[in-house]
Amino acid sequence: MKSLVKRAVSGLRPQTSRYQNRVLPAKHLRLCGQDFKSDEYFLDSARAEADRLIRRLGMTADSRVMDLGCGYGRLPIGILERIGEIRRYQGIDVMKRAIDWCNRYIHRQHPNFLFLHTDVSNRRYNPAGEEITSRFQLPFEAQSFDLIYLYSVFSHMEAPDVRIYLKEFHRLLPASGKVFLTAFVEENVPDATVNPEGYRGHKWSNALHCVRFNKNYFESLLQEHGFRVEHFLYEQETHGQSAYYLARV
Ligand SMILES: C[S@@+](CC[C@H](N)C(=O)[O-])C[C@H]1O[C@@H](n2cnc3c(N)ncnc32)[C@H](O)[C@@H]1O
Repeated sequence: MKSLVKRAVSGLRPQTSRYQNRVLPAKHLRLCGQDFKSDEYFLDSARAEADRLIRRLGMTADSRVMDLGCGYGRLPIGILERIGEIRRYQGIDVMKRAIDWCNRYIHRQHPNFLFLHTDVSNRRYNPAGEEITSRFQLPFEAQSFDLIYLYSVFSHMEAPDVRIYLKEFHRLLPASGKVFLTAFVEENVPDATVNPEGYRGHKWSNALHCVRFNKNYFESLLQEHGFRVEHFLYEQETHGQSAYYLARV
């Protein structure tokens, strides 16, 4: 009830914020933590994500990019800043209102930036969605993308769902296709822990607020599903998540 009221009130507030003549999601909609409430930080981070994909993973105007857990369009905002329209951009999210926002404020102006709502369950972001099963597939043909991006998505997902997505990424990428993702990984911890007490000085309390993996275990999942770690950067991302740059083998 409380969350229904909260959502109704949030729906009455402005949905956008204008900054340097750009349309950004309103501050109350932004994901990934308090830092992103600053317009300057949000826009800089959007540009930095696009730069990362350009410099490290070879994204160009000819790339086909899938952004799983796209939220309120931080990456596409960055891509539009740095490159403009690209051959294929497909955002996907379980949060219907985030996809509605992206359709209204990005797709309408840039019709080849596409956004898809997938109604699968995530206890934090879409608790009423359908349970994901091992037969799950996204509605795209094999090898439809060159690059798959997930920022702070596996940090809110347990291992069975991570496995299902990794299997799907392998189908959707050609050989040597790339993945960038962030996750909470540490050495000498249990394989997977939901809301680890006191971890990184936070009080993780809501459903799937933080899912922390053992680094070796997480990397064994990557390897098992046909991905090689090309580059790893420990705890450089939001809330101390680590960054993985992967190649499909
Ligand atoms: C912390 S937010 C990050 C949003 C965005 N990647 C960014 O960096 O601004 C996590 C996002 O993952 C989405 N998400 C969670 N589980 C998902 C799933 N199974 N499939 C697609 N999106 C999912 C959430 O709805 C949310 O938008």
